Amino acid sequence: MTTIDTKPGNNAPAAPPRKLLGHLMELLEKRLHEFFRAERERRSKAYSQAADLVGSVADLVGAGGKRVRPAFCLSGYLAAGGDPEDHRVLRAAVALELLHAAALIHDDIMDAATRRRGVPTVHERHSATHRLCGWRGEDRRYGEGVAVLAGDLALVYADQFMAAAPPLVDALWAELRTELIVGQFVDVHVAAAAEFPVDPQLARWIAVTKSGRYTIHRPLELGAAIAGRPDLSDAFEAYGSAIGEAFQLRDDLIDAFGDGQVSGKPDGLDLAQHKMTLLLGAAMQRDLGIRDLVRAGDAGAGRLRSRLRETGVRVDIERHIDQLVDDGCRAIAQAPLAAGWREELIEMARLVAYRDR
Ligand code: IPE
Ligand code: IPE
Ligand code: MG
Ligand code: MG
Ligand code: MG
Repeated sequence: MTTIDTKPGNNAPAAPPRKLLGHLMELLEKRLHEFFRAERERRSKAYSQAADLVGSVADLVGAGGKRVRPAFCLSGYLAAGGDPEDHRVLRAAVALELLHAAALIHDDIMDAATRRRGVPTVHERHSATHRLCGWRGEDRRYGEGVAVLAGDLALVYADQFMAAAPPLVDALWAELRTELIVGQFVDVHVAAAAEFPVDPQLARWIAVTKSGRYTIHRPLELGAAIAGRPDLSDAFEAYGSAIGEAFQLRDDLIDAFGDGQVSGKPDGLDLAQHKMTLLLGAAMQRDLGIRDLVRAGDAGAGRLRSRLRETGVRVDIERHIDQLVDDGCRAIAQAPLAAGWREELIEMARLVAYRDR
């Protein structure tokens, strides 16, 4: 096990932020692994196939992912001067990754996505098993039914871990889960509604509400609250809203122009489903041809993608992301953070805003 000197003596400097964070992230991986090992064993004692449901969640979590939410929660805690030797904050960080797993499993049903983190999505895998085994009923209904349960299970696990975190986070946790669900509803509602609006403000609101808040703003705020520093809420909200929006706008660009082999997800789903992303909203404002294609509902992702390239709207979104990164970094310029953490949060902002997966 890695041991690092987190408690400096009189003259010793504190361990650098990256090292402290790396150490806690390693512990997080171990906790996740140990939790699923024990949970699989426990559930399969009653009914051996139950391990398969637990395994659906465990396999998704084990398939990787960037661990953005735990990283921001632990960073919020350490940046707020939280004691690196007090590992209670890890429970909140684990809860955030499990909530994310729940959100992903349900999101993939809603978005009809077939791949996640480079492997088949939960509903896709269970539908395929149903088909291959020739079971009774509809394979799709079975796969989606099992995935609803797997997502619910992940949500229960997340709540279980958060309940063991210091109690002051209850209201924040309720808000974080609610925002995510409401944001997801508006995302699918707007895409499905007959009169598809061209509304860049709404697109930005959706990006922040369904994703930016639970990914960056609220994890930071949770970490700071656990460290006993609610005074950092305003700075973390300003940073987290801006960087959270940049995070989701990058996700939207990856969907439209990225490489599915790198992202581990299918390309072009947002375009095929006419999701009201800022990218599509801005393109519809610029180009009436795109607006007609979307409103007529007959544009495939390929056609929209090539037309989007011609409008140059991608450059506008990149500029908007640059502006959000500047705004977010400026928001923490004066915040009273532990040594080295301003620079670390600036680096993290760049990593999430300019990623390719
Ligand atoms: C994907 O999140 C879902 C969104 C909120 C956009 P991530 O891009 O953090 O996915 P993983 O966890 O790295 O797989
Ligand atoms: C999903 O947004 C956000 C949540 C999981 C709550 P997306 O639908 O854009 O995420 P991806 O692109 O499938 O990862
Ligand atoms: Mg999706
Ligand atoms: Mg979605
Ligand atoms: Mg997406």
